[in-house]
Amino acid sequence: MNLQTYIRPYIDLIDTLRSVGIQKDLALPTIVVIGDQSSGKSSVLEALSGIALPRGSGIVTRCPLELRLRNVTGGVSWKAVLSYRKKKIEKTIIEFGDPSLVEKHVEEAQNELAGKGVKICDDLITLEVRSADVCDLTLIDLPGIARVPVQGQPQDIGNQIKRLIMKFIEKQETINMVVVPCNIDIATTEALKMAQEIDPEGIRTLAILTKPDLIDRGTEKNILAVVQNKVIPLRKGYVMVKCRGQQQIDEKIPLVEATQIERDFFQNHDFFRPLLDENKATVKCLAIKLTQDLVSHIKKSLPKLDEQIKKQLWDVRNELKECEAGPPQDLKGAKQFLIKILTKFNDKIKSLSLGELIIEENL
Ligand code: GDP
Ligand code: NA
Ligand code: MG
Repeated sequence: MNLQTYIRPYIDLIDTLRSVGIQKDLALPTIVVIGDQSSGKSSVLEALSGIALPRGSGIVTRCPLELRLRNVTGGVSWKAVLSYRKKKIEKTIIEFGDPSLVEKHVEEAQNELAGKGVKICDDLITLEVRSADVCDLTLIDLPGIARVPVQGQPQDIGNQIKRLIMKFIEKQETINMVVVPCNIDIATTEALKMAQEIDPEGIRTLAILTKPDLIDRGTEKNILAVVQNKVIPLRKGYVMVKCRGQQQIDEKIPLVEATQIERDFFQNHDFFRPLLDENKATVKCLAIKLTQDLVSHIKKSLPKLDEQIKKQLWDVRNELKECEAGPPQDLKGAKQFLIKILTKFNDKIKSLSLGELIIEENL
């Protein structure tokens, strides 16, 4: 069986459950991308998805962005649906078929939700992309960790962003993809520290090392040791990727060509060449790893989902039983019965509308 047909049903199941708001009651797995500002998060997401996201220096991603990538076959053309809720109620849905419009629409949605400028916001933007060229993944991109506020940002912006990131990565069902550039001191990376804090054994943390072409000469051996899991051991380990630098973006080097350039880079590298055989380098290798991780994660969660659904079913059946007998025959008894049902119904509506808000806040 090929990987595609093997994983598809699991991911569809989870997305369907998520879209009916089931995460209020059930824990659903997802991949969350975190890292310092300009560490290369958007570049990695872009290379994985083939989708040009807003990027640049400074804070570009200002709202959590859920990227649902759907691989479709059979001559279907590229299609995207962007959606978000303003003030947790009013839902906006935008459909489009031109990949070059992604940046514009995401930026507009961010301006709607977080206001124009440099502020961040907890509201989720969802972008679903159907294409023959993407792999089946659901990823959430988060604002990068900022150290110093820029003009127009509140003094506590760093803490605001960390709080937002924490909300996502502390959930047991997330796989945390920590993006760290090779040209900094990896051990002191804030994002890695946060992930280690909530996942000390590194069971659900995968680290991505970016910018291997920018490392200082003489540090290659140290970095190789990190990727080979000998310095800061993580169960899921490390993958090194080389994405497009600013110059290659300005020159509009296509992603396909960038993939070839990346391969050549590793093949010709005196120190990093072995990583190819160890499945620890290239974006392609990362995509396969992530998909397999997601599927095994979903598989592990299924028994728990099953249990929770059974419990809910049992509760509902019990409630139904109470109604089975029907109203008493005498008028007084019937009135009381009716009032009881109406009160219950009213409470249910109240808790449902509250639940709706809680879902949004928890996202
Ligand atoms: P983000 O803020 O974490 O989303 O970072 P970006 O993806 O916007 O990347 C920041 C800058 O680093 C951009 O100019 C990218 O072109 C550049 N960059 C990302 N990955 C690499 C890489 O592997 N090599 C080089 N040379 N530049 C990279
Ligand atoms: Na950036
Ligand atoms: Mg970014």
